[in-house]
Amino acid sequence: MKMRFFVVIGATLALTACSKDDATTATTGTDAVDATDGTDATDADGTDATDADGTDATDADGSDATDADGSDATDADGSDATDADGSDATDATDGSDATDAIDATDGSDATDGSDATDGTDATDGTDATDGTDGTDGPATPFDTLGGKPAVEALIDTFIGKVAGDAKINAYFLNKTNNLARLRLCLVKQVSELLSAPGITYPKAGEGPDSDGCRNMLAAHAGMGVSKADFADLLGHIVTSAQDLSVPDAIIGVASQVFGAMETDIVEDTTNDATIYQRVGRKPAIVTVIDDFVDLVVADPEINGFFGTANVARLKTCLVRQVTQVAGGPALYGAEVEVEVVGGDGTGIPCLDMEASHNGMQDDQGNPVTKADFDALVGHVAAAATANNVTEADLGALAGVLVSLCPAIVADQATCPQ
Ligand code: HEM
Repeated sequence: MKMRFFVVIGATLALTACSKDDATTATTGTDAVDATDGTDATDADGTDATDADGTDATDADGSDATDADGSDATDADGSDATDADGSDATDATDGSDATDAIDATDGSDATDGSDATDGTDATDGTDATDGTDGTDGPATPFDTLGGKPAVEALIDTFIGKVAGDAKINAYFLNKTNNLARLRLCLVKQVSELLSAPGITYPKAGEGPDSDGCRNMLAAHAGMGVSKADFADLLGHIVTSAQDLSVPDAIIGVASQVFGAMETDIVEDTTNDATIYQRVGRKPAIVTVIDDFVDLVVADPEINGFFGTANVARLKTCLVRQVTQVAGGPALYGAEVEVEVVGGDGTGIPCLDMEASHNGMQDDQGNPVTKADFDALVGHVAAAATANNVTEADLGALAGVLVSLCPAIVADQATCPQ
């Protein structure tokens, strides 16, 4: 590059010397021997007459080293290593040189992992202290794991596992939940745990933050979360982190920090405060309902009512109803789409007993009688007993079911008063 620079200067001087001669022969202000641009070295533009653009013909881009921008034409972007930002045009991504530490745009360089495209530069509020651009302090675990995108991926993996776990997913399948906020708050919690700069999550006794994230006691109050629920959920945090290759040391710390939240979150420390917990949570209820539907379908006395029923929907709604009656976390009628669209294909939330049985007839045109009702409750009892539901719990469940009689049978007067 330097050699070429001096050759250019030399050529420029030589041409300047020539043009002085030309100027002496010019009579009209133009150089008679300069056919190309009609000017010569003494013209107002001070350029040499032999090049097409009025600059020095020896530079590839039509400019030379003495140009006002101080750049040299051999750079693809028209700048050179002497540019103000010290960068070179050979880095197509950020206009800086891949080997230099400072890019005028984001203060980092594309090759140091902290360029604007990796979510960890100055525009995301985590630069300057993230230890990823060579000029910062030590990296935090948050940075090492990949910053916010990595934490979001972790939380999404976790949410997928929780959603697929029938032991605990009933807590999250109500329209009343704010799952977008849950995700945001979890990302914040994990970011804080990983020492992300400037991120704090409300502690015990503190009110919600500006995103509505509450402290753990407030967020879980009244849910009846059991010790078993907590262990299952914590297990998903750990396996999600393992799936994403989070180092064991960080997983260990996370288990401790999240594990310590148990006292604020768990209300049922012995896993038996409700029938729901005692019978074995939702998986047990699903089994009871599956068995119950089999019994109904096999019963000629009442199966005429179910010939056209959407069995998947019926099961979804029955499981939710029994879960709620058993003191579990389902809110009947507040189904989320994944259950009534993905699950049963209808998109309609589970109907109340009156709406779903009003005017109902079997395949012979008969209305629902008290005898039909009793037959059905009998199948519920048989299925529950077959699945180890205790007599006491079954009695409590049956009591609630019987109270639904007036909403279901055609002749309400036949129901127990
Ligand atoms: C270490 C364990 C846990 C952590 C770190 C945790 C964290 C959180 C966070 C950050 C929120 C959002 C708070 C807010 O919306 O203000 C939340 C909400 C919630 N949590 Fe937990 N949780 C844990 C355990 C559990 C367990 C075991 C269950 C039940 C199985 C559960 C059920 C819920 C539900 C249903 C919500 C949504 C509440 C709503 O939207 O109204 N959580 N949790």
